[in-house]
Amino acid sequence: MAEAFRALWDTLLPIGADPDGGWTRPAWSEVDLAARAWFTREATARGLAVETDRNGNLFAWLGDPEAGDAVVTGSHLDSVPNGGAYDGALGVVCALLAVDLLAARGVAPRRPVAVAVFAAEEGARFGVPCLGSGLLTGAVAPDRARALTDADGVSLAEAMRAAGTDPDAIGPDPARLARIGHFVELHVEQGRALADVGAPVGVGSGIWPHGRWRISVTGAGDHAGTAAMAGRRDPMLTAAYAVLAANKEARQRGGRATVGRLLAHPGATNAVAAGVSLWLDARAADPETLAAMVAAVEVRVGERAGRDGTSVSMRPESQTPPVTFDPALRRRLVAATGGAPVLATAAGHDAGVLAAHVPTGMLFVRNPSGVSHAPGEAATDADCAAGVAALAGVLRELAC
Ligand code: GLV
Ligand code: MN
Ligand code: MN
Repeated sequence: MAEAFRALWDTLLPIGADPDGGWTRPAWSEVDLAARAWFTREATARGLAVETDRNGNLFAWLGDPEAGDAVVTGSHLDSVPNGGAYDGALGVVCALLAVDLLAARGVAPRRPVAVAVFAAEEGARFGVPCLGSGLLTGAVAPDRARALTDADGVSLAEAMRAAGTDPDAIGPDPARLARIGHFVELHVEQGRALADVGAPVGVGSGIWPHGRWRISVTGAGDHAGTAAMAGRRDPMLTAAYAVLAANKEARQRGGRATVGRLLAHPGATNAVAAGVSLWLDARAADPETLAAMVAAVEVRVGERAGRDGTSVSMRPESQTPPVTFDPALRRRLVAATGGAPVLATAAGHDAGVLAAHVPTGMLFVRNPSGVSHAPGEAATDADCAAGVAALAGVLRELAC
């Protein structure tokens, strides 16, 4: 199976590969469309019937979709900029190979089975994560989604239209959602828990609550050489303090806080910035800790803005509540994987969105580097093959 994994994996790898390592597959870009076309080809070659739902999610069906109570697996193909190879893509490739394994073993599922590719999971291009699953389930409002823009000012509606998908049709799709009886997402682990216990595969217990906040700081633009240091109203100082305050508040609470993106306006080396936007990604084990952490950052940044002579506003762009995966399904996944370890994750997933509607579970594949959202993300072919075997076992257990 490791050879079969490598053979299929190598057909996807060139799509969106960056020259300097890493992968960039922005949602609804040409590269994303190439990855989606790759999926359609591979699924069709396996005799699966591929449909695109009204939100741009792809479903490749084995059996009659209308029969209901389907067992659905899959993940996403979009990526963060210069991300790793495995985040999302591994779940799609392993799902296709698990279907192959069932066929090779002569397993004929009683329930329909589908491999899904959810659109725009990362939120890297349009700011809000899990757009495809969020629109499908109603967690994301269609008007809001259509109006989201990327860094070049292109709206989601424009990007979808350019890709041949009608943005006026997006929105909740209860009939399609009702077809799904169980959803299981396989994903590369985004930490080292499995490496530490020497297990190739794990089972997800839940997802930390998390969210993204945009912090906008306004000051006064001026000349970098002639503006006296004392009189400046420099928004970059407030922004720098926000980065440090977020880090400190997270460390004190055992949470996570990251500013991975910052924009200075107008962005000249020889000018004091007039404004700075920065995006805070914050996560914690429970909603109370997360709320307290974000509130503390807001208070401290507000105080600092007072000292800097700047003004600051902070507003949420997305918030995702905690997720506990279905306990009965989790027990079945543990049994089907021969007792794989159970772990929680602080990363967001389409499985987390679907979990509010459908019994949902996750499988993780060991990542020896523990790195994710960066080129250093890793998994061995043997562990990916173990993931395929585990997923095939789960599909057989659920669908037969
Ligand atoms: C998605 O990978 C996220 O956790 O941001
Ligand atoms: Mn992912
Ligand atoms: Mn990701």
